Amino acid sequence: MQQNFSSSAYLNMDLLRFTTAGSVDDGKSTLIGRLLYDSKSIFEDQMEAIERTSQMTGEDGVNLALLTDGLRAEREQKITIDVAYRYFATPRRKFIIADTPGHEQYTRNMVTGASTADLAIILIDAKNGITTQSRRHAFISSLLQIPHLVVAVNKMDLVNFSEERFLEIKKEFDEISERIDVDNITFIPISALLGDNIVNKSENMPWYNGSTLLHTLENVKIGSRKNTIDFRLPVQYVLRPNQSFRGFSGTISSGTVRQGDEIIVLPSMRESRVKEIWSDQKTVDSASAGQSVVLTMANELDISRGDMIVRKNNVPQIRSEFEAQVCWMHEQSMTIGKKYLLMHTTRTVQVIPQALLYRMNVNTFHRENDETLGLNEIGRLRLVTSQPLFADPYKLNNETGSFIIMDPATKVTVAAGMIRPPSTEPIKPDRTDDVSLHRAGKKHSPEAVWEPWNIPREVREERAKQTAKVVWFTGISGSGKSTVARALEKRLWEQGRQTMLLDGDQLRHGLCSDLGFSPEDRAENIRRVGEVARLFFEHGNIVLCTFVSPYKADRDLVRALLPEGRFIEIHVTCLTQTAQERDPKGLYKKAREGKITGLTGFDAGHEAPDKPELQIDTDNMSVDDAVDLVLSRI
Ligand code: ADX
Repeated sequence: MQQNFSSSAYLNMDLLRFTTAGSVDDGKSTLIGRLLYDSKSIFEDQMEAIERTSQMTGEDGVNLALLTDGLRAEREQKITIDVAYRYFATPRRKFIIADTPGHEQYTRNMVTGASTADLAIILIDAKNGITTQSRRHAFISSLLQIPHLVVAVNKMDLVNFSEERFLEIKKEFDEISERIDVDNITFIPISALLGDNIVNKSENMPWYNGSTLLHTLENVKIGSRKNTIDFRLPVQYVLRPNQSFRGFSGTISSGTVRQGDEIIVLPSMRESRVKEIWSDQKTVDSASAGQSVVLTMANELDISRGDMIVRKNNVPQIRSEFEAQVCWMHEQSMTIGKKYLLMHTTRTVQVIPQALLYRMNVNTFHRENDETLGLNEIGRLRLVTSQPLFADPYKLNNETGSFIIMDPATKVTVAAGMIRPPSTEPIKPDRTDDVSLHRAGKKHSPEAVWEPWNIPREVREERAKQTAKVVWFTGISGSGKSTVARALEKRLWEQGRQTMLLDGDQLRHGLCSDLGFSPEDRAENIRRVGEVARLFFEHGNIVLCTFVSPYKADRDLVRALLPEGRFIEIHVTCLTQTAQERDPKGLYKKAREGKITGLTGFDAGHEAPDKPELQIDTDNMSVDDAVDLVLSRI
């Protein structure tokens, strides 16, 4: 029964990795058994054993579930992870099924088994329809960026092969697929038990014109899921067999390395050039993702396990603070503030979940607020690690973009996560892409490498018992920005808060003393101020900024430097007449006398914010009331 392929043809066949998601009750084992059986991939001796067992247990036909269950039991004795990789081939393709047995911990199984899959089969019981679990599976598939989804509506025999029922389920699933990010979804009505539409077209469902499951598996387009661009080599071992040889070994996570490439080593930032690449005991000119290699360098470098070798001009983000989509996999729920271990490439570091930004309700796809994640729940977490990670967003690189979290005491895996670009966009801890620098035409020198903050802001905030903010007062000269901000700072001071007040007139005496009031100079002024505000912010302060800042774009760039919710823009207004009467610095008088031009509020405009967090009308509000209002907002 077993197919024979000549070995060379076999080697050249392409390979589809897929995973099956569904519970035992959905008929997963039966489906896999049926696929193997009907595609004639089963070894004969195994088949006989199953026929025998089935006869013994008195079942009609062959119990295909026994095949997979049997294999699983066998494997489970040898391996400890709960994913069994099963392997079969047809004349068209080779297949690896990451079978994720068990229905209790399906999140765990799916995440661990599916992370490299090209396709996921989501099994739905035609009778029960779409369950919370099916939704979760679909959501996880999209989180893991699995490009193809096959929704196999199983047990069609139990619903009289009803087209209506199939369409009903398809319609319901379409609502899910609108919410998730999957390239390609195929629906197939099947009966794994009877073999309908698995390998052979069903005679019971003439209304179905699509492909069978196997046909779909054989023909779906496989694009490589490996990142072929960004070279990342997490160092596993340093080899030093003798004085003259020093090599750094590891499996290339992504990209390609060539002899002579200029590299840098993280975190030391030391530079060198690749001298030799060893693979399979011989030197090669280049090597790429998935290959195990040993690199030697042109000069002596101090490299150790957990370091990462990357190309000089293509460096991952180096950060000890990041956001991730996390699937919790343990009965014991996540605790904010608790120390866990995080495994990322070849490094293990301490990690503390700082905040659950939201939990995803997979039934409604709504984001829920909570403090914890329970078993099988998925949410967006902000995490802080004891040492920086060299990471890429999962979307760009599924190797350097994923991690697992372990319990430090038991070393049990409690969660898996996918690193996201910060939702606080466009904060880029790797400042090479910094918007404000780009806009100002002031890109940093390539020699300046971004270093993560030594003590993360969260840690500082925790000690100061406050949430860092930047409170930005904008408005014309004489509107009352400084008066309100000064009173506010005193109030905050009395409350024991750690604050800093940055004021236009002050900074223009030092840091910005070279700047005037042309639009360009004002833009540069606000850019510098924004950077300073951010430094104080990262130090955990409540930073009060009082700047005329008449241009929206300049203020928006400062906002963009800070995480969402941390920039509070306050538009301070009054009648121009009031400002002119107040004239605290005599500027309006000078302007009237023609001694100065371009005074905001006189002959230069102020662009009001579209959606300021607050507006304070100082014609109609006392300073104390204004302070109360701001305090209630921050
Ligand atoms: S901004 O426009 O670049 O934001 P900033 O707030 O730093 O200005 O400085 C404003 C201060 O500079 C005012 O409080 C005022 O004392 C002084 N100033 C002098 N000339 C002008 C002008 N033409 N427009 C606005 N403020 C001016």
